[in-house]
Amino acid sequence: MGRLIMARVKKLTPIMCNTLGPDDVRIAEALLASPDAWDDPAPVREAENWLAAWLGLDQAFGFMGGRAALYAIARALNLSQGDEVIVPGLTCQVVVNAFEYNGATCVHADIEEETFNMDSRQLAAKLTPRTRAVLLQHTFGVPARDTRAIVALARKHNITIIEDVAHGLGGRLQGRKLGTFGDVSFFSTERTKMINTIHGGFAATSDPAIRKGLADIQNQSPFPPTEKIRDILTTLLFCYYTKVHPDRVSRFDWAMKKYGHSLIAQMTDLEFKGLFEPMYGCRMSGPIGTLALNQLQKFEPFIPLRQAAARKWETWARGRGYGTSHPGPDAYCTWLRFPVIVPEPLKADTTWIEDELGMEPGVWFQSPCHPQERVIPGIPTGWKIARTVINLPTGLWVE
Ligand SMILES: Cc1ncc(COP(=O)(O)O)c(C=O)c1O
Repeated sequence: MGRLIMARVKKLTPIMCNTLGPDDVRIAEALLASPDAWDDPAPVREAENWLAAWLGLDQAFGFMGGRAALYAIARALNLSQGDEVIVPGLTCQVVVNAFEYNGATCVHADIEEETFNMDSRQLAAKLTPRTRAVLLQHTFGVPARDTRAIVALARKHNITIIEDVAHGLGGRLQGRKLGTFGDVSFFSTERTKMINTIHGGFAATSDPAIRKGLADIQNQSPFPPTEKIRDILTTLLFCYYTKVHPDRVSRFDWAMKKYGHSLIAQMTDLEFKGLFEPMYGCRMSGPIGTLALNQLQKFEPFIPLRQAAARKWETWARGRGYGTSHPGPDAYCTWLRFPVIVPEPLKADTTWIEDELGMEPGVWFQSPCHPQERVIPGIPTGWKIARTVINLPTGLWVE
C-alpha cells in the first residue's frame, strides 16, 4: 500500500476509489463474462452475513444503493403521507427522495458547527405529534457529536432512529461501531464512499419488526436489469483505470475508448427532479454482492490512511486560518472526505485550490438538500456551512 506524500501532492490525481484494486478488476471481468449467474442471490447473502456479523446485528439486506436501502427502510416502517421524518440541516437529495417517494415529509433540524451533524436541541425543537423517525447522519465520516442525546430524545418520544452510515463505515463512537446506534442503519457502496461497487447499499437491524419488513420488501423487489449491471461493472473498470491504477493519467484516453460507452451517472435526471427512479426499488444483484464482500473484507486498513491524510489537511487548513470539523476525543472518524470551511467567495470559485494543490476539491454540500436548490427555512447553520464548506480527498496515495 502506498504512502501519502504531501510534497508530491501537486503531481497526484486524487484517488476517489482507493479500495479498488486489481483483485476487484479480476472479479468484475469474470462477472462480465458470465451474465447467466447474475441473478444468483448467494453472493449477496454472503456479503449481508459478513456485514451483520461484523456489526453484531441480526441481519443485513442488500439493495441497489444506500438510497435504495433507505427507501426500503421507509417502506418497512410504513412511512407515508402525514408522517414527518427529521433529517439534518445538511443532507442529500437522494436521502430526502427516499422518504418523499413514500409520501413522508422531511423536516430539517439545524446542525451544530463542530461536526456538521444534527444538533439535538434543534431536533427537540422540530418534534411534533407527526414525527415518526429521525435520521442520524455522520457527515464526512465524523460521528455525530450529539449521537447519545439524539438517541435519548428519540427513545423518550418513541420515534425510530434511522442511522445513516453512508460516510461512516468503520467509524466508531466511544468504541462502538457506527451503524449500531439506530433501530436500523444503512450503508453505501457507491463509488465515492468507504467501499466501492459503483452503486449498492445495505440496511441492517436487530429489530424484529423492521427485520421482517425488510425481508419481505427485499423478497418482493426485482433485480436491476442486466444492462444496468453490465454498465456498473464497466464503470467500475473505468474508475479503476482512471482513478487508482499507477498509470491512471496516461491511461485515461485508452480507458475512455474502452469503457466510456456505458458509464453510469451518480444521480439520474429523474432523481434530480424528485421523480421516482426505479433503482430505488431494486434488491442487490449477485455481482454487486460479490464485489461488496471483497471490498468489505479489505476496507479497514484504509481508514488509518484516511486519518493520516485528514491530519495533513488539518495542518494545511489551520495554517491558512480556515475552519475544520472538530470531532470529540471519543470519536474514531473515517474521514470519507476532509471538510474545510473557507470564506464564501473561495467556495464560489475553487480554481485557487486547483492552482495550489493541483486537484479539484469537492463542493458538496452546496445546499441543505444537496444538490437541489430548495428553500428550507429555519436552518441558518446548515445554510452557512453549505455556502462555505469544501472537502478534500483523503485517498491520496502513491504506489
Ligand atoms: C449522507 C448520505 N446519505 C446517503 C447517501 C446515499 O448513498 P448512495 O449513494 O449509496 O445511494 C449519500 C450519498 O449520496 C450521502 O451522502
